[in-house]
Parts: sequence; C-alpha cells; structure tokens
Amino acid sequence: KRPAGAPDRSLARKVTKVGVVGAGLMASQMALLFARRLEVPVVLTDLDQARLDKGVGYVHAEVDKLLGKGRISADQANRLKGLVTGSLTKDAFADADFVIEAVFEDMAVKKKVFAEVEAVVPDGCTLATNTSSLSLTEMGADLAHPERLVGFHFFNPVAVMPLLEIVKGAATDDATLATAFAVGKSLKKSAVLVKDAPAFVVNRLLTRFMGEVIAAVDEGTPLETAEHALDDLGLPMTPFALLQLVGPAVGLHVAETLHEAFPDRFGVSANMAKLVASGKPGVYAADFSLDPEAVALFAGG
Ligand code: 3HC
Repeated sequence: KRPAGAPDRSLARKVTKVGVVGAGLMASQMALLFARRLEVPVVLTDLDQARLDKGVGYVHAEVDKLLGKGRISADQANRLKGLVTGSLTKDAFADADFVIEAVFEDMAVKKKVFAEVEAVVPDGCTLATNTSSLSLTEMGADLAHPERLVGFHFFNPVAVMPLLEIVKGAATDDATLATAFAVGKSLKKSAVLVKDAPAFVVNRLLTRFMGEVIAAVDEGTPLETAEHALDDLGLPMTPFALLQLVGPAVGLHVAETLHEAFPDRFGVSANMAKLVASGKPGVYAADFSLDPEAVALFAGG
C-alpha cells in the first residue's frame, strides 16, 4: 500500500551511490544503514581525517557487532566494510545519486553544504537533509534546483527506530518525493509525509513532552522523581535518558526553533542551556549513574 501522500513509485529515480555529508554518530549510523539495505557504495565526507576515521571506524565496529550476533555472514561483513568509505572532498559525490547531510543544525551551515554539493553532483541527484527542525523551503532557497531537495529525518538510534519523516518543501517535486519514499522502503523504515513546519511533527510532540518534564524539574521536582515518574507507563526510556540519546544540544536547538516559531507555546529552559554549555553529554555518567554536577545544574532552578 502506498503511504499517504506518496507519489507514484514509478517516478522514483534509481539510487546506485549514496553520499553522506558529516561523519558524526548519526551520519555514520545512516551510512551503515544505506550500505546494508541498498547494497550500494556510500561515501562519507567531513572536514578532517580524524572525524572521517572515527565515522568509518564506527561503521566497521557496528558491522563486527552484527557479525558477532550472527545477523550477517563474514562475506557480507567484508562487503559492507568495503562499501563505506570516507573522503575529505565532496568531489567523491560526482557520481552519487542520493546525497544526505547530517551536519550541525545551523541554517547557514546547511545552505553552504548544499551549495557545495550541488556544484559537484550530477543532474537527477536527490539532495536530502536530516534536519530535525529547520525549514526545507528556506534551506533550498538558494539552490539552482530546489525541486530535488527533500527532508529525510531519521530517529535515534537510526538502526533501530522504524520511523522516518519525509518532508516536502515548497519546491520539492514528485520525482524527488517518490525517490525518498522508495529509498525509505528499501531501508525498511515506516515513512510518513509531513509538512514543512517548525520541527515537523514528531519533534514537536517530543519537545512538548520533554519540555514539560524539564519544566517540572526547573520548578523544583527532584530530577530523579521526574525521571522515574512514568516508569510503569511502558515508555521505552526515561525522559533524561532519551535526552542523552538525542544529545542535549540537539534537544535545545529544537526547543529554540519551536520557541522562535511559537513563543507562547514552547519555552526554553535556562537550566537546559546550562547543561549544554557545560559540554556534558547529559545528566548520566558513563556508568549510567546520575552525574551530581549535571543534576546540580537543574537544582533550585
Ligand atoms: N545502534 C545500533 N543498535 C542499537 C543501538 C544503537 N545506538 N541502541 C540499541 N541498539 C539495538 C541493540 O543492539 C539491540 O539489538 P538486538 O536486538 O539485535 O540485540 C536492540 O537495539 C535493543 O537494544 P537494548 O536491548 O540494548 O535496549 P532496549 O530494548 O532498551 O532498546 C532503545 C533501546 C531501542 C533505544 C529503546 O530504549 C527505545 O526505543 N528508546 C526510545 C528512543 C526514541 O524515542 N528515539 C527517538 C528520539 S528523537 C530523535 O532522534 C529525533 C531527533 O531529531 C532529535
């Protein structure tokens, strides 16, 4: 059955090589997924060799885990490792037909990335962004071909979460949308088409939920109480564990975007901003115990 709003599948362009801009955690997870499910070469790019090595290293380590669990054969593991490579220049995208970016959530940075990508990719290459909250229409405004830009928003952990938000910008055409849905299907994700609105749909809901938990703590509820209040409601994770999985900086950025768009409906917690400024990965330490210094950032509002 065709997902609601998806154009006819026959319009989809073939994807034989994927480019991923950025080699951070989310980008590396995507690279592995594309290689595993599309079985095509995937090239990661980033600003320096150390980041590239880390990204490719992550992919290799995850492939070894899949091999260890018996999910793939030794041959498949070797093939997957060979499919994912790193490059310091975007020239490696010259024969790519699907390029996705997962760089820092900043409109100017993303626009610059797409200008560089558009200069090297062939006609008919789909440009996708993993942005969690920024406007597709604005991101494509300076492109020569904004009709081939589409939102392709994954959820953490990329390998596990079935959901994929596909975002249509004002200019996105049907062939690009059809390609996005076809790729989503090959990745075995459940794609939903969402409007190009601040934080789309899912992060708007999650930010409401997380914002209320954080507000309760800001207002004096002990963090540990708020963290475990919903334990028996069947959610897969506690709120601050989820915040740590997503990354506090990403969570704060989404909250700021929503606050800017809807100031009466979404607030930004000053204590969350302090947590992000501290550089800590969240309120939990590496051994999953609460980090007293991080928790103290919230104490007393
Ligand atoms: N990478 C790859 N695989 C992972 C993983 C990761 N980071 N984390 C967990 N997994 C795999 C495990 O290897 C395991 O696989 P297996 O069954 O093959 O052994 C499977 O997932 C289950 O993991 P665990 O048994 O360790 O743990 P749980 O059963 O508790 O599941 C969870 C972990 C899937 C993360 C679950 O807690 C969950 O669903 N949490 C909610 C996550 C969520 O809501 N994500 C959305 C965040 S919002 C977002 O990303 C948008 C952004 O724009 C902000």
